[in-house]
Amino acid sequence: MRNQVTDFAAGSTAARTADQVRSALAGDLDRARRRSRALTDPVDDGDLTRQHSPLMSPLVWDLAHIGNQEELWLVRDVGGREPVRADIDHLYDAFKHARAVRPTLPLLDPTEARAYTRTVRDQVLDLLDTVSFDGRPLVEQGFAFGMIVQHEQQHDETMLATHQLRAGPAVLTAQPPPAAVGHVEGEALIPAGPFTMGTSTEPWALDNERPAHTVDVPAFWIDRVPVTNAQYQQFVDDDGYHDQRWWSTHGWAYRQRAGLTAPMHWHGDGSYSRFGRRSRIVPDEPVVHVCWYEAEAYANWAGRRLPTEAEWEKTARFDPTTGRSSRYPWGDDDPRPEHANLGQRHLAPAPVGAHPAGASPSGVHQLIGDVWEWTATWFDGYPGFTAFPYREYSEVFFGRDYRVLRGGSFGTDRAACRGTFRNWDYPIRRQIFSGFRTARDPLPGEAG
Ligand code: AVJ
Ligand code: FE
Repeated sequence: MRNQVTDFAAGSTAARTADQVRSALAGDLDRARRRSRALTDPVDDGDLTRQHSPLMSPLVWDLAHIGNQEELWLVRDVGGREPVRADIDHLYDAFKHARAVRPTLPLLDPTEARAYTRTVRDQVLDLLDTVSFDGRPLVEQGFAFGMIVQHEQQHDETMLATHQLRAGPAVLTAQPPPAAVGHVEGEALIPAGPFTMGTSTEPWALDNERPAHTVDVPAFWIDRVPVTNAQYQQFVDDDGYHDQRWWSTHGWAYRQRAGLTAPMHWHGDGSYSRFGRRSRIVPDEPVVHVCWYEAEAYANWAGRRLPTEAEWEKTARFDPTTGRSSRYPWGDDDPRPEHANLGQRHLAPAPVGAHPAGASPSGVHQLIGDVWEWTATWFDGYPGFTAFPYREYSEVFFGRDYRVLRGGSFGTDRAACRGTFRNWDYPIRRQIFSGFRTARDPLPGEAG
């Protein structure tokens, strides 16, 4: 079964048999592992064990942590099997040791980490052949396997961000993103009214995306494309970084303390660095590597604001002609390359206008892929939230520390990206692939 090619994404909502889910899961597990290897095989042992930034773990930590989570949830919990390495759990528990101290731990070396992830994976593929998806919520429709696929892909994106911070010659290669096929600009009006936010039916939706609930959203205007480098450059040229009017109190304090003058990795001469290569800033690419405070300041300067999370999701999912929320802006189909720039197929966001097939019914483009989009909203649980399968995935992060990001980036795999998917980070963070789009309230008489 496992080698049979199917059209079913493992996390799809389409009706499918358990064997089709198994086969699709094996494909997704393999895609994640090939990516983890692509991010670590070309890196020498010194660079795998070194810390490239205090914000990031050594790459070898991510690699063994991927294997350890897979062992904890699939080998031990789902499979009920003996531990592969019970002695190393504490080293790879993200809550036990901060990223900055991880290089000082007695971690598995690169050879050991590779062997460990292989041993765990062999057991998991063996388990997948015979496991029943009935009986326990943890395995229903393959959830635990889907959670582990998403976990590996999330750490792959984190490792990609580490590559962006790594000094030295480039080791990653990819085709450039597709060119714009038409000029897209301006804003779209999303009419007032209720829509269904979150989901109770996506098989792999994580706890923080659940349950589906109705949210009444007043009318608003939202950018049809993410803010571009050219637009952001105008803010820089207008001395936006030195004009306190545009910044919130916390934003200004951080801007001063960190000495921010431009997005991370810009050099101030019209060039920037990406994955070890320096080139001219591409004007119509979405701006990336800005923190929430920079996004907020830009929006204020532009006479606009960041969209709320509900506005973002309504833009991405609500179809005004049917009144339904779809899985993605383009409908319910799983993402294909023409829809969105996902999965590290390219090592850059695509220029605005490059993905017309992925536009929403309201004509809003590139909501999925390219850059994570900051929203105005703090990360919190939806009404009726219940932690599943563990509080440490989402619940411990709820409150007023983290802002929500939506939509995924060029470094997000399709398995870890949905119209309902929620990411979060501190408002000062910009090593992630973060950009934004802006919104505004309608003027009197503008919204019917
Ligand atoms: C959802 C991206 C914020 O990487 O910190 C990985 C995902 N959780 N391992 C993170 C996650 C546990 C998480 N984010
Ligand atoms: Fe993790």
